[in-house]
Amino acid sequence: MALLDIQSIEVEFDGFRAVDRVSLALEAGELVGLAGTNGAGKSTVFGAVAGQVAITRGAIRFAGQDITRLPAHRRASMGLGRTFQVPREFGSLSVLDNLLAASPDEGHESLLAAWFARASARQTDGRLTERADELLGLTRLSALRGQPASALSGGQKKLLELARAMMRAPTCLLLDEPFAGVNPVLIDQLIEVLRAIHARGVALIVIEHHLQALKSLVPRLLVMDQGQVIADGAPAAVLDDARVRTAYMGGVV
Ligand SMILES: Nc1ncnc2c1ncn2[C@@H]1O[C@H](COP(=O)(O)OP(=O)(O)OP(=O)(O)O)[C@@H](O)[C@H]1O
Ligand SMILES: [Mg+2]
Repeated sequence: MALLDIQSIEVEFDGFRAVDRVSLALEAGELVGLAGTNGAGKSTVFGAVAGQVAITRGAIRFAGQDITRLPAHRRASMGLGRTFQVPREFGSLSVLDNLLAASPDEGHESLLAAWFARASARQTDGRLTERADELLGLTRLSALRGQPASALSGGQKKLLELARAMMRAPTCLLLDEPFAGVNPVLIDQLIEVLRAIHARGVALIVIEHHLQALKSLVPRLLVMDQGQVIADGAPAAVLDDARVRTAYMGGVV
């Protein structure tokens, strides 16, 4: 049985079908790339799976349960995590506190509630800080631990977003363009970070425009175009696919 089973989902915005009968079965510990041109519907699929976006048709199962109608925080506490294309850090909090505010028992997205809950928990629960520090090490942010998150570069914010998602010990992570805005010099490091997360048994779906970057990371690649999955398979075969080439107007990069 698949860990995540997306069954022919549709999402409509004012009659516009942004996601059109998308299906994907992801096994535990699997690593999959999701590519496609701007507006193809990739982020909307993540929103539908993580619970920020309502679907108009289809069903989503996770860890053996129908989660189609569960609120986002329930899905997160089941081990289904995500990052956002535009990072959602709490700018005035330190890098460390951003992680503590995203800890496993945090069941909602309210900044203040999260912060006050953590502020008291911090004094009693050193394990959370230990976990946060371990993840800051993994994402190479340890040196910035005490800095306000607002002081981070765009690429560092992407890394922080990743570390925050890992605080909840997910079994499945949806990563929305983790490479975007990251200095090319750090891309190889980031690939190592993603491999390390994957090596811990976390199933990953990674959105990225650049097919070549995905090719070296994932053994399975999906491409979306105009709301639909137009290819799903080994990267070499997908890059060769006529529909993919047409969608990328011959400029497969
Ligand atoms: N909240 C919304 N309301 C209305 N339309 C939306 C909304 N979110 C997304 N869309 C539309 O749905 C389509 C898919 O958007 P989505 O963000 O999922 O694409 P994407 O594949 O992630 O693109 P990109 O690579 O540019 O991030 C686009 O046409 C977009 O304008
Ligand atoms: Mg997107």
